[in-house]
Amino acid sequence: MGLDSMLRGTMRINERGHLEIGGCDCVELAKEFGTPLYVFDELLIRENCRRYKKAFAQNYPAESRVCYAGKAFLTLAMCRLVDDEGLWLDVASGGELFTALQAKFPPERIYMHGNFKTEDELKAAVRNKIGRVVVDCMEELERLDSIAASQNAVAEILLRLTPGVEAHTHEYIRTGQIDTKFGFHIENGVAFEAVKKALSLKNLKLRGFHCHIGSQIFEIEPYRIAIEQMFSFAAMVRSETGFAMQELNLGGGLGVRYVPEDDPPSIEAFVAAICDWVKESASLLGFELPSLAIEPGRSIVGEAGTTLYTIGVVKEIPKVRTYVSVDGGMSDNPRPALYGARYFAVVANKASQTPNKIVTVAGKHCESDILIRDIALADPEPGDILAVFTTGAYHYSMASNYNRFPRPAVVFVRDGKAKLVVRRETYDDLLRCDQLVD
Ligand code: LLP
Repeated sequence: MGLDSMLRGTMRINERGHLEIGGCDCVELAKEFGTPLYVFDELLIRENCRRYKKAFAQNYPAESRVCYAGKAFLTLAMCRLVDDEGLWLDVASGGELFTALQAKFPPERIYMHGNFKTEDELKAAVRNKIGRVVVDCMEELERLDSIAASQNAVAEILLRLTPGVEAHTHEYIRTGQIDTKFGFHIENGVAFEAVKKALSLKNLKLRGFHCHIGSQIFEIEPYRIAIEQMFSFAAMVRSETGFAMQELNLGGGLGVRYVPEDDPPSIEAFVAAICDWVKESASLLGFELPSLAIEPGRSIVGEAGTTLYTIGVVKEIPKVRTYVSVDGGMSDNPRPALYGARYFAVVANKASQTPNKIVTVAGKHCESDILIRDIALADPEPGDILAVFTTGAYHYSMASNYNRFPRPAVVFVRDGKAKLVVRRETYDDLLRCDQLVD
């Protein structure tokens, strides 16, 4: 297992023995746009959007909505792509909403999230008539109602619930009371209080419920438990208040392959399973099939992104390890430092050679900044281009200017053409907001 299992979408090794994505030679991309560079396989993003939509069309007879979770990767070009593919969009801040609106993304297909949405964010949501606000707490119910009232509007909402199940990559825990800042807890009765309050407020229209049980999930069983809990709560609400859930949003979470050993379920298997469980619960409890939404982020863009770096230094410490330093690091990929995330890489200009040297890939920030520990690479040398796989989700969107590194450029590649969708920051950009004071 190695490189072969990591080649996805339009990736291939070309006649020159170089890694190619979207018909573009990665070595040429590095030359043209510089490094570090985020390269996105546009057709793979589109294919993932279509696979989600098709899987719902095949498995779910009522309305379904695939809402791309913008926090994974959002730019103007990405908003356009998501709109073009007919998906909805989940935004988690005023900045993401602004990006979407600037890209002319239809506001009626936007969901807004957040455990603390500011007045300004809520006002922007109402003023722009976005599709749904996913309300997270009691304070927000009142705030949103009065903002909607002041604008003579009615805001359509979902309540974010905490169903007491939390999933992780390889395991899940189920506890009565999850310790989380998000949502209304079902178990302690707060969720029911929130429903009653929402129904009593004149400028809010409750449509249904939302939950999000985790991210980078490989075992889908926890979704079954979450779905059962959401329906049993909805049944209790219906019998106590007469309100029948019309919409159910199950959040995001499907995992992707970062290293060859990762084996996430397919989009098709994931969607088929949740549709089955929703249909089962609905029929068991006598609900009409709700409009069903999910919010995938990582599984749409994660594997479609690759970061190209230039190798600058190869430092061998005899009998200890060899450090290969690249021209980026934790400012373009904070995930190893934050989550201990693991990655796979290949020397893009030696992609057909056998990886013969175990090395550690280090970034150039002023701390240990390790990107990949102990990976086999083909004779890495200064000047080589290193391609790190699966960097499409939560990389550009989490990038920083630590050590005053300008953030990398982003290109979409397709059919042998590369489109620059975010230009590289310059040193001047770093000073954009600085002010000299006496
Ligand atoms: N919906 C909600 C309400 C969420 O909180 C999230 C992710 C998603 C959807 C999308 O989940 P996905 O399909 O991407 O798993 N920075 C972390 C991931 C944080 C995920 C936060 N919420 C990382 O780099 O792994």
